[in-house]
Amino acid sequence: MKLAVVEGDGIGKEVIPEAVKVLDALSLPIEKVPVEIGYGKWKKTGYAITDEDIETLKNCDCILFGAVTTPPDPEYKSVLLTIRKELDMYANIRPVKPLAGITGVTGKSDFNYVIVRENTEGLYSGIEEIHDDVAYTTRVVSRKGSKRIAEYACKLAKMRNNNVTIVHKSNVMKSDKLFLDVCQQTAESGDVNYSDTLVDAMAYYLITYPEKYDVVVTTNLFGDILSDMSAAHIGSMGLMPSANIGEEHAFFEPVHGSAPDIAGEKIANPVAAILSIKMLLQWYGYNNEASLVERSVNYTLNKGIKTPDLGGEYTTEELGQAVIDSINSQ
Ligand code: NAI
Ligand code: MG
Repeated sequence: MKLAVVEGDGIGKEVIPEAVKVLDALSLPIEKVPVEIGYGKWKKTGYAITDEDIETLKNCDCILFGAVTTPPDPEYKSVLLTIRKELDMYANIRPVKPLAGITGVTGKSDFNYVIVRENTEGLYSGIEEIHDDVAYTTRVVSRKGSKRIAEYACKLAKMRNNNVTIVHKSNVMKSDKLFLDVCQQTAESGDVNYSDTLVDAMAYYLITYPEKYDVVVTTNLFGDILSDMSAAHIGSMGLMPSANIGEEHAFFEPVHGSAPDIAGEKIANPVAAILSIKMLLQWYGYNNEASLVERSVNYTLNKGIKTPDLGGEYTTEELGQAVIDSINSQ
C-alpha cells in the first residue's frame, strides 16, 4: 500500500508524526510518501496545493492528513474541498464512540454510532452567485450522489446493528425529498432496518438519546453540523478521527484543525490522529491491527496518560509513545 502523508500546518506537524510512529510499530508493508500542502507552503510559494500535489495524492492508495491553516486570502480555495472533489471521496465517516476513562460534556457513555455524511454535493456544491444585495448558494442533491452514500451507509449498517437513520428536511426542501426517497429505497432493497428524522429534531435526539443510533446518513451540511455536535459526547476535539472514502481513494484525518493557539507547545492530543490510523487499517482490511491500535489507545487513556485538553500533563510525544509501548506489549 502507498500512503501519502500530509502533516499540514500547526499541530498537524506534531500529531501526524505520532500517528506515523504508531503505524511503523505495526511493521506492515506500507510505503509512505510525504507531501507538503497548506499555509506554510502558501507562504513560501503562493500556492497551498499544486496540480502536481494532486497527482501525487492520486498516485497513492490513501492519504493521512493532519490539518491545514486557512490562508488569509479572499481568493483562497479550500484545500480540503479541492482534494475531496479531485479524488471524488464522497463518503465522510465519523465514528462516535466513547473512549476509556473519558466522559464528554453530555455525561453519556453508552453510545456507539457512525455519521455517514455525503461529501461532494448538497449545500457545499460550490455553485454560488454573489451580487450586491443578494447571494445564492445552490443545493445540489442528485440521485447518483444519494444512492452511493445510501449504499455506503447500508453496507456499514450490515457490519454493525443493521439500523440506518436517514436525516433530512424534506418537509421544507424538495432536494431532500429525493435524498429521503433514494435512501429509503436503498435500505429496503438491502434489507436494512431504517427510519427517518428531520434534522432539527435529530440535533436534540442525538444529544439526548445517543444510545439509540447505529448508522446516521445525511447530506453534506447537516452531516457537518451533527458530527461536530457529536464531539460533545466524546470529550475533546483532540479525540475524533474521520475518513473520507471514495471508489478509488481514501483520506484519513483527525477532525480538528491546526490549533494555532497551542501549536509548538508540544501538548496537542495525538489520539484523533492515531485513531485515524485505526480507520485506515480497517479500510484496508488490516482488522486485527486496527483493533490493536484502538485497544492500546483505550488502555493508555484509562491509565490516566492524558494531554492537557483532557486535564492531564503529558506531552504529545509521551502519549504517542505510551500507545506504542502498549502495542509492543501485546
Ligand atoms: P481547531 O480544531 O484547530 O481548534 C479548536 C480548539 O480545539 C482550539 O482551542 C484548539 O487548541 C483545540 N484543539 C484542537 N485540536 C486539538 C488537539 N489535538 N489537542 C488539544 N486541543 C486541540 O479549530 P479552529 O481554531 O477553528 O481552526 C484553526 C485553523 O485550522 C483554521 O485556520 C482553520 O481553517 C483550520 N481547520 C482545518 C481543518 C482541517 O484541515 N481539516 C479543520 C478545522 C479547522
Ligand atoms: Mg467541520
